[in-house]
Order: sequence, then C-alpha cells, then structure tokens
Amino acid sequence: MTDRFGRKIEYMRVSITDRCDLRCRYCMPEGCEKVPMSHILSYEEILRICRAAAELGISRIKITGGEPFVRLGCTDLIRMIKSVEGISEVTVTTNGQTLERYIDELRNIRVDGINISLDTLNAERFAYITGRGALDKTLRGIRAAVDSGIKTKINFIPQKGFNEDEIEDIAEIAFKEGIDVRFIEMMPVGAADADTGISNTDILQRLKERWPDLEPDESVHGNGPAVYYKRPGIKGGIGLISAMHGKFCEYCNRVRLTSQGQLKPCLCYDTQTDLVPFLAGTDAELKKALRDAIVEKPAAHCFGEAVNSDNDHTEHRLMSQLGG
Ligand code: 5AD
Ligand code: SF4
Repeated sequence: MTDRFGRKIEYMRVSITDRCDLRCRYCMPEGCEKVPMSHILSYEEILRICRAAAELGISRIKITGGEPFVRLGCTDLIRMIKSVEGISEVTVTTNGQTLERYIDELRNIRVDGINISLDTLNAERFAYITGRGALDKTLRGIRAAVDSGIKTKINFIPQKGFNEDEIEDIAEIAFKEGIDVRFIEMMPVGAADADTGISNTDILQRLKERWPDLEPDESVHGNGPAVYYKRPGIKGGIGLISAMHGKFCEYCNRVRLTSQGQLKPCLCYDTQTDLVPFLAGTDAELKKALRDAIVEKPAAHCFGEAVNSDNDHTEHRLMSQLGG
C-alpha cells in the first residue's frame, strides 16, 4: 500500500525480542531496562500481524531483535512467515554469535538472507564494543553463512576513535568472500551518539583511494536505502547506508513492528500504534489499524536537525527495543 506521501510501503522489520546476548554500547548498554516477557508478542500474534500486513501489500519481512536467535523457536517463526501468502522474502539480522548452530535449519527453511553485524576484526575491540561478545564466534557464523550459499551481508558501523583504521579491512571481506559489506552511518537512536559516526562521503573517498576501480552499481541488492558500489569483474559489493548525511526518507518503504506489538512508522518519533487491543478483535479491524498506522507515516526523520517545537526527535527508547 502507499502512504499519504505516495511512498510504496512493502517492507516490515519485525522485532521478535528486545533481549540480546550482547551489550553493544550504542544499542543496548550494560544495565539497560528490558521489556517484561509478558508484554512480548507470541509467535501466533506476530504471524497474525504478518498475515494482515501481507494483505496490505507488505511482501518482505526482516526478523530482528535485540538478537532474534536468543528467542526459542526463531527458525520455526521464520518458516511460518515464509509460508504466508503474499510474503516473498524473509531475511534475518543477527550478531552472529550463535549463527553457526542454526545455519542448516536456515538453509532448509530457505531463509532469503542473513545480515550479520560486525564492527571490528580485532578480538579485544569486539569484546569492548559488544560488552561481552567473542569475535571468533561471529566469524564462524559468517563463515557458515557464506558457505551455506544463503545470501549474506555484513553490517559495519564506522565509529570515530574506535574502528576507523579497519574500514579497508572490512571492505575487503566483500571482495574476498563475494558478499555485500554495508557501511551504516550511526543514527542518534537510544544510547547511540551520532557524533561518533562517520559520514559515508568520507568512507567512499577512502575506499576509492584504495580501490580506484570502484563504480556505482545500479542493480537492486536488498530492501532499502543502501547505495551500492562494485569493482568490475569482481564479486561482492560495498553498500552505503547514509541515514544521516544522505537522508533517504523520500524513498522509505518500511515500517517496524516492536516486540511488544507496536507498529512504528519511523525510528525518529514516538508515534506508534499499539496493535495489541486489535489482536482481540477481527482480522478486518487489525488490518484497518495497520492501514491507518501506515498511512500516517511521517515525511522524514529529523535526526541531526536543530530541535524546534514542530519537528522534534521524540523517540528515546533503545535500538534493541525498536528493532535495529
Ligand atoms: N545507528 C545505526 N545502526 C544501528 N544499529 C544498531 N544501532 C544503530 C544506530 N544507532 C545497527 C546494528 C545492526 C543493525 C540491525 O542496526 O549494527 O547491524
Ligand atoms: Fe545486540 Fe545487535 Fe544491539 Fe549489539 S547491536 S546489542 S548485537 S541487538
């Protein structure tokens, strides 16, 4: 369906838990509050919302968290959503810590893609930024994902004073493994400080110095706003997700479902529709609530803008509660 600005909304990010086995400093810092388990949607409820969304034209779903694989039965849910009529693609975002053990199942249920977060290739830095993670586990997850033949992407958030010296090393994974590596500009959501992020304009300049043959790639790689670059004759691509400096709201095609059943049309504002009361009603009522929420999607985020009374960044929950 289209929203009031004529944007085609066809992609829903579904957070199935706010829990995570890591504590990335910008996402879910140590000691953060968690949603009570009793407020988390059941898989049946998530499935029902996905069915209603599919009837409204949502065709692609991303399973996210927190960390989706900390919730028992995550692969069962993926399988069930894949069988919903109208859903053509179900992908998952993970920190990769336990991915190795789920890869066979994910291949069997034909998941359409796996995005793995990786902010550093240095074990000490990995432990620092993730609070408690082990780099080798995520690297094993990436290895297993690439070897499985499932479409694999790496998400990297460049951060000043932390991983700036790894930009080329991370990019190189794309060309070595023939997969996509995406550079994401840090957004000021929750605990994150956008000032620690690095503009993709600077990233591109650095990558072009190292690989002068990098050229824009017009082919479609994924669900959304990444702009891709490739090297002639070489597999693997570099994606730039420039949420801050290259605001792409005009082309936004997504909504988010939080683990508690709120439909969020934009990360920047606390405006949301609680779908829980509608789960007690008919399918038609649920569908109408979803439709009304999607139509009202705001025109654009206001991250990085001076605060004023008409347009204020009002969402202050953590990324882990909103579904990354
Ligand atoms: N800005 C941009 N990306 C973020 N992610 C988590 N927090 C932020 C933020 N503040 C990313 C994670 C993960 C993806 C789901 O979202 O690194 O790769
Ligand atoms: Fe967990 Fe991902 Fe958030 Fe890190 S960024 S705390 S891995 S949900």
